[in-house]
This record gives sequence, C-alpha cells and structure tokens, in this order.
Amino acid sequence: MRIRDLALTLALAGAGIGSAVAGQQAAAPPPPGPGLDLIKERCGFCHSTAQVTSVRKTPAAWAATVQSMIDRGAELEPEEQKVMTDYLAANLAGGDASAPAKN
Ligand code: HEC
Repeated sequence: MRIRDLALTLALAGAGIGSAVAGQQAAAPPPPGPGLDLIKERCGFCHSTAQVTSVRKTPAAWAATVQSMIDRGAELEPEEQKVMTDYLAANLAGGDASAPAKN
C-alpha cells in the first residue's frame, strides 16, 4: 500500500497541495475548492459533508447522485451542478462501478 501511504503523507504535509494527488486519495480528506464549498453549502442541509465525501463513485454514478439529490431538493444552478459533479468525479473517484443513487 505504498501509493496510499504516499497520498496520506502528502495530505498531512499540506492540505493546500491536495489537488496534486487528486484521484489517488484513499482515506485522505478531499482537497479544497469551489466544488467542496458547494457541497458544504448546498448538501449539508440534509446530511453532513462527511457523508458525501466518504463515498467513492464513478463519474457517471456521481452525476446520477447529484441529479438525484437535486430531485430531492438540493438547490444547484446548472453551472453549479457541473462544478460539483466535476469536482466529485475528479476527487472522489471510485474504481468499481458503484451503483447510482436509487430513487
Ligand atoms: C433534501 C435533502 C437532501 C439534500 C439537499 C441532499 N441530499 Fe444527499 N441524501 C439525502 C437522503 C435522504 C439520503 C439517504 C437516502 C439514500 O441513500 O437514497 C442521501 C444520501 C446521499 C448519499 C449516500 C447515498 C449514495 O447515493 O451514495 C450521497 C453520496 C449524497 N446523498 C450526496 C449528496 C450531495 C452531493 C448533495 C448536494 C448536491 C446532497 N446529497 C444533498 C437527502 C439529501
């Protein structure tokens, strides 16, 4: 698990460089950015930010999840939806085909 240790070490060394290892993080906290700000602002209404950032999904599954949360009441403009979906796909990617959110 050397790659995971490396990612963790980098994350601990400085949260500011977190995006340098985007997509390679295992349990490391998600990097800061507009996408994370949006998650804190718009998704914390119903559940904690950690509940979102502890999940790993494929880009397609993240897109489906964000759309499903909007259907539930999350308030996101189309442009914000794109920013968030891109952020999730880039930083909280899962290698396996996690199922999209159910309705
Ligand atoms: C109106 C309330 C509400 C808002 C706002 C909301 N969610 Fe959810 N979310 C839920 C509920 C209820 C569940 C649990 C039910 C389920 O898992 O289907 C859930 C579960 C989840 C899960 C875990 C289940 C899965 O599909 O992996 C994720 C991830 C998630 N939400 C992401 C988000 C994101 C990202 C946002 C912001 C765009 C968001 N949620 C905003 C209500 C909400």
